[in-house]
Amino acid sequence: MSTLSRFLERDDFSSNRHHALTYYWRMMFFRKPLSAFRHHALVVLTVGLICDAAAESPKLGRVATPEELAAWDISIGPEGAGLPPGSGTPRQGEAVFMAKCVACHGEKGAGKPNDQLAGGSGTLGNQAPVKTVGSFWPYATTIFDYVRRAMPLNESKSLSNDEVYSVVAYLLHLNGIIDENETVDARKLPKVRMPNADGFATFTRGK
Ligand code: HEC
Repeated sequence: MSTLSRFLERDDFSSNRHHALTYYWRMMFFRKPLSAFRHHALVVLTVGLICDAAAESPKLGRVATPEELAAWDISIGPEGAGLPPGSGTPRQGEAVFMAKCVACHGEKGAGKPNDQLAGGSGTLGNQAPVKTVGSFWPYATTIFDYVRRAMPLNESKSLSNDEVYSVVAYLLHLNGIIDENETVDARKLPKVRMPNADGFATFTRGK
């Protein structure tokens, strides 16, 4: 008698799906290898049982509300599309940085224990380039997007828009890109020219 027909003849098969599955897996892993046909037949059987179980309770959830979608829809384009109202200066940003960032990014963004956020200018061609938001990132708007969505690491999405604008302004100032008293907002940020803005090749798919 083949393994498959023995499997199908077990009386607990029809009455106890769980047992049937366990039996199948035991055969899969502990018996000598099954022929391709038997293996195929058992896989079809198992998938059938799983689909059957799923059909009993679909539990597909519900449609997300516009408010829930808006909370996730926070991407900022390179040209500033999607930047919210609010503003901040480097001076205000220094206070945010000292309260919420310095522990991980060091005094004036010098780094340690985590990423260095200032300096590295002119090192990209070196053996060991120092990539910071100042030396490497092509758009100031991306710093806003990133900080708002991901920082502080241990409390992401906790900053107000003014706090994000301020701390971004502070990072730009630490990198010598804007003056200490310059106000950064949705109109100004896209106009900030980053030192490495031309350092990336444009990828044109299939052209
Ligand atoms: C608990 C530690 C922690 C705190 C607090 C924290 N960061 Fe970070 N930050 C990190 C880590 C870790 C990374 C690297 C994450 C990665 O590469 O995925 C990072 C990355 C960054 C980067 C990107 C650096 C790069 O060049 O890729 C920026 C910008 C940044 N943080 C800004 C901030 C700001 C602004 C604050 C305060 C509002 C802050 N971080 C607070 C741990 C922290």
